Amino acid sequence: MVANWTTYRELLLPGLTGRRAVESALRHAVRDGRLKPGTRLPSSRDLAGQLGVARGTVTAAYAQLVGEGYLVAKRGSGTTVAATWPGTPDEEPERARRWRIDLRPGLPALNAFPREEWLQAQKSALRDLPVEELGYPDPAGFRALREELADYLGRVRAVAARPADVVVVNGAAEGMSLLGRVLRERGHRGIAVEDPSHAGVADMFASHGLAVHPIPVDDKGLRVDALAAADCRAVLVTAAHQFPLGVVLHPERRRALLAWARARDGVVIEDDYDAEHRYDRPALGAMQALAPAHVVYQGSASKVLAPALRLGWLVLPPALRDTVVEHKRLDDLGCGTLHQAAFARLLRTGGYDRHLRRTRQLYRARRDALLDELARVLPAWTPIGVAAGLHVVLRMPAGVDDVAVQARLAARGVHAPALANYTRRPAFPGLVVGYAALTPDRLRQAVHDLHAAAPPGPRGAPR
Ligand SMILES: Cc1ncc(COP(=O)(O)O)c(C=O)c1O
Repeated sequence: MVANWTTYRELLLPGLTGRRAVESALRHAVRDGRLKPGTRLPSSRDLAGQLGVARGTVTAAYAQLVGEGYLVAKRGSGTTVAATWPGTPDEEPERARRWRIDLRPGLPALNAFPREEWLQAQKSALRDLPVEELGYPDPAGFRALREELADYLGRVRAVAARPADVVVVNGAAEGMSLLGRVLRERGHRGIAVEDPSHAGVADMFASHGLAVHPIPVDDKGLRVDALAAADCRAVLVTAAHQFPLGVVLHPERRRALLAWARARDGVVIEDDYDAEHRYDRPALGAMQALAPAHVVYQGSASKVLAPALRLGWLVLPPALRDTVVEHKRLDDLGCGTLHQAAFARLLRTGGYDRHLRRTRQLYRARRDALLDELARVLPAWTPIGVAAGLHVVLRMPAGVDDVAVQARLAARGVHAPALANYTRRPAFPGLVVGYAALTPDRLRQAVHDLHAAAPPGPRGAPR
């Protein structure tokens, strides 16, 4: 009668007596597909007999579910499961196709996440947490974490921050969203972003009503001279390691950018998303300390630990700090304290630094393996940018269609986005290749897939 179930008693679990229980069991059976759309249900008398409940119980449950839209009652044809019912969940969208080799940028090595240290940090943080901290959090962030972050950022990134300047957010993504709103509220009509850049960032600012002005990037980073033509007083810049090109903002450009901001009471959002991962030399310190009144420093644990933590931070100029905190309060009353307390503990005990030392070595070896094999197999494709981060852009010879290369790779089960996905005006064709999550062997294998997907001849590889 019902697929895989011999009786409704079995389907709806034995022991159902009350109307609510019958109703709930039926609702669940419809929702999870055990009762398919169009299935004709037994008469109320029959089902009541099968379940050993009063007929009125079933009639009432049917009526309730007809009212809710799960069932349809038609005179003469009994009660059936509706073809579509409220909130029919589509199959949960497949979040990501399973690629044979996934070279998308953005993820650290998730299997290197320091689970043991995080567990210890969570345990001891919870054990020591004063009971009053289990109440509503400070919307600016857990005090102990803001202290640790001010210290860490000063030490590692030369950021000038007092704990009071730090605001903890759910990832840099929330930080940017809060800033978008605050800038709009302060009368900003637009914001400049690097071109190429992360497409999501421009969309997010646009969603807050800001006009987005793409500014070209060359081998010295953002073309600060081109900002003059943009009708705006705010800019987002990935100075330490431009995303995605991987170049560093030249010291002269840094000076020019800060002068631009000072001259128009502007705001520079310094997105320091992966600066701790520099392999050839210590990264330049953040710009923020050179103009704390004009620079918002933005950081995140996503590239060091894992995006799943949703832990990010802003260091704000005094003029913006209170408004940002007020918006954060209005949004969600602040980030959860337990996570923040664990992260504070990880920072205080040196666990974050230890993890960074390990991953820096790991990623450096991975990057080297990728680039060594590339130089051997596909010498016409050149890595650009500095030795840093979790990804590298491979520049292809002029005339190569990078979108077509991406498609040929996809057909082989390899995902590596074309540079064209990050800009409307590509200066050259390229692929953006994330290497942090793959072993050297897999990366060498990936290079052979790149070779197979490259156009023949001088534009690709010698064949
Ligand atoms: C340029 C850039 N900034 C910031 C982030 C970090 O975002 P979040 O902290 O929300 O994970 C990313 C992650 O993809 C990024 O690519």
